[in-house]
Amino acid sequence: MRKKGQFSVQLDAFLPPDPEFDPRYRRAPNRGFNLTEKETVLAIKNALRYLPKELHQRMAAEFLEEILTYGRIYAYRFRPSGAIYGKPIDEYQGILEARAIQVMIDNNLDFDVALYPYELVTYGETGQVCQNWMQYCLIKKFLEIMKKDQTLVVMSGHPLGLFPSKRDAPRVMSSNGLMVGMFDNPNDFQKAQALGVSNYGQMTAGGWMYIGPQGIVHGTYLTLLNAGRKYLGIRDEDNLAGIVYLSSGLGGMSGAQTKAVEIAGGVGVIAEVDRSRIETRKTQGWLDWVSDDLDQVFAWVQEFRGKRQGASIAYYGNVVDLWQYVVDHEIKIELASDQTSCHAVYEGGYTPVGVSFEEGRRLLRSDPARFRSLVDDSLRRQYGLIKVMRDRGTQFWDYGNSFLMAVYDAGARDIAIEGEPKNGFVLPSYVEDLIGPICFDYGYGPFRWVCLSRRSEDLAKTDAAARDIVYDLWQSRTPKRGQDYDNYVWLRDAQKNQLVVGTQARILYADGPGRLRIAQKFNEMVRNDEVGPIMMGRDHHDVSGTDSPFRETANIKDGSNIMAEMSHQDWAGNAVRGMTMTVLSNGGGVGTGKAINGGFGLVLDGSARVKKTISMALDWDVSCGIARRAWARNAHAMDTAKEWNDTHEGQITMPSIPSEGLVERLVSSRIRK
Ligand SMILES: NC(=O)c1ccc[n+]([C@@H]2O[C@H](COP(=O)([O-])OP(=O)(O)OC[C@H]3O[C@@H](n4cnc5c(N)ncnc54)[C@H](O)[C@@H]3O)[C@@H](O)[C@H]2O)c1
Repeated sequence: MRKKGQFSVQLDAFLPPDPEFDPRYRRAPNRGFNLTEKETVLAIKNALRYLPKELHQRMAAEFLEEILTYGRIYAYRFRPSGAIYGKPIDEYQGILEARAIQVMIDNNLDFDVALYPYELVTYGETGQVCQNWMQYCLIKKFLEIMKKDQTLVVMSGHPLGLFPSKRDAPRVMSSNGLMVGMFDNPNDFQKAQALGVSNYGQMTAGGWMYIGPQGIVHGTYLTLLNAGRKYLGIRDEDNLAGIVYLSSGLGGMSGAQTKAVEIAGGVGVIAEVDRSRIETRKTQGWLDWVSDDLDQVFAWVQEFRGKRQGASIAYYGNVVDLWQYVVDHEIKIELASDQTSCHAVYEGGYTPVGVSFEEGRRLLRSDPARFRSLVDDSLRRQYGLIKVMRDRGTQFWDYGNSFLMAVYDAGARDIAIEGEPKNGFVLPSYVEDLIGPICFDYGYGPFRWVCLSRRSEDLAKTDAAARDIVYDLWQSRTPKRGQDYDNYVWLRDAQKNQLVVGTQARILYADGPGRLRIAQKFNEMVRNDEVGPIMMGRDHHDVSGTDSPFRETANIKDGSNIMAEMSHQDWAGNAVRGMTMTVLSNGGGVGTGKAINGGFGLVLDGSARVKKTISMALDWDVSCGIARRAWARNAHAMDTAKEWNDTHEGQITMPSIPSEGLVERLVSSRIRK
């Protein structure tokens, strides 16, 4: 038994063997060495804090080498050897919640799931679980000894310590990359990362709730269907047959585009410069056709468009060449977007045209300034081509990757309204036009669950239970909602679509009442031993979780889209209502300083305690955003808030709306005087 005051959680004074890297897995590029001599000393001393003194001399030299070579200290040597993956929960040590959290962390680092598993990057080019392998080892050690009334605090991947709290408090509270305002910019952020004091958590990478690319397949499928409905007038019960969607990126999330467009029945052409990413999606069965010959690519497009058959085609090459071809050959493209990693555009997230992927990587290392200027030229050229196609009828939207902002930063000022991004952009973002009003304002968002047993039977049982609930919602609502029907089709076909990579998990864009009913049903199923324990959570990209003026809150038009209070309130409210883990992070999909986002995980153990937590916390997690969106006068959110007020004990404050033209007439008469 450990005595009070005895420090027991530390790394051993034992040097693990030299790290080995399996060449089949991608490695993160050199992020660039950006420190002065004095700062380099600080970075190494910071990393040595994790190690006993006996290892300092040896590891100081190794850390220096790592930071000079990769621009970061990952402490590769401390990565447990072999494959890491979300094992069945019983194979971990600790209390139930702590074991569940370990499943989630390991799933985020699975070779099949993570983008750069050796650098702890789960997705989105730079989204890390934590900063280095020493932090990973310590977090696991803390989780193994955690008691039911303790909370582990994690700051940018660093386990600050295990503190007494209470049973109904979160077991883990973490944050990533939250900067003081005047330093909240990419340059200071990257310096902080190199010093080892800041982690870029993206969303579910640092929130330990990533479930592989199926999460984004569902979201992309809904975005594409709703784009077809809004821009092309297709009916609720129709799909994208005969419609062509052009985009780029087959990486962590962008890789979902090919599968999603096919499920939606359209023809997708996606450019990708990295051959290995094309191979991954091809092997997974998420991609039908691949070519580096644009004549061949568009021969397939014509064939499948004519047959009105769903098909996914990868163009192995640069997206700018793809746009140039469609402009030159006057090819009809109905829908288009871009999913290169523009949130990290100068760090390797975007490969400029005229440079292969490999050359781009070399240039980034040898001449970052030249790389930067090529990126700017390429983005401006891409925007020029998009404008031509927009004039010919193509509907383009920003896909949450900061593409429009990157084009603006590259010098194309006309992409912003009146040349100022704070006014918004001349092209829409997918949240502004599609997901915001059609999903978030009604409370629909990327809810998800993980069957911690890793048993596929458990997932099948939960899929069936959720499908019945969603079907009932679809049948019982007046008027009927297309979203409920889409969700029903998604769950009906979920097993057939075989989208699971990593743990047995499912995503579902459920609304507030749907989430509650599903969670209560699952908790009951756990209690009755029909299934093992379940981790319930969501993507941060949701109704309440994220303040991001060009993405999640792009359809908030009362001027409060520059505020970050909703995500903070949501996060704190989730913590006080007893979610198992809560996280708040800077950046997410759009980059440092451009968003604050939070998420949660809740372990369903079948208990009455969790039943109560579901009814309070899951409800708050959706109604927080509904209330804010309703206050911003969003029509669908006002309807949803009224419904909430009619059915709940609490009360959402509703806005009073002046008669049409009243304020405009008054103001214009005075201002004109
Ligand atoms: N779809 C969504 O709902 C959503 C949600 C969150 C974030 N995002 C954002 O989308 C972006 C992509 O995410 P990801 O996880 O797929 O990142 P990723 O880095 O894994 O994938 C991006 C891919 O784009 C390719 N690429 C780069 N430049 C290219 C070019 N010029 N032509 C063709 N291919 C090129 C890269 O090789 C890479 O494979 C990120 O900025 C992310 O933050 C999207």
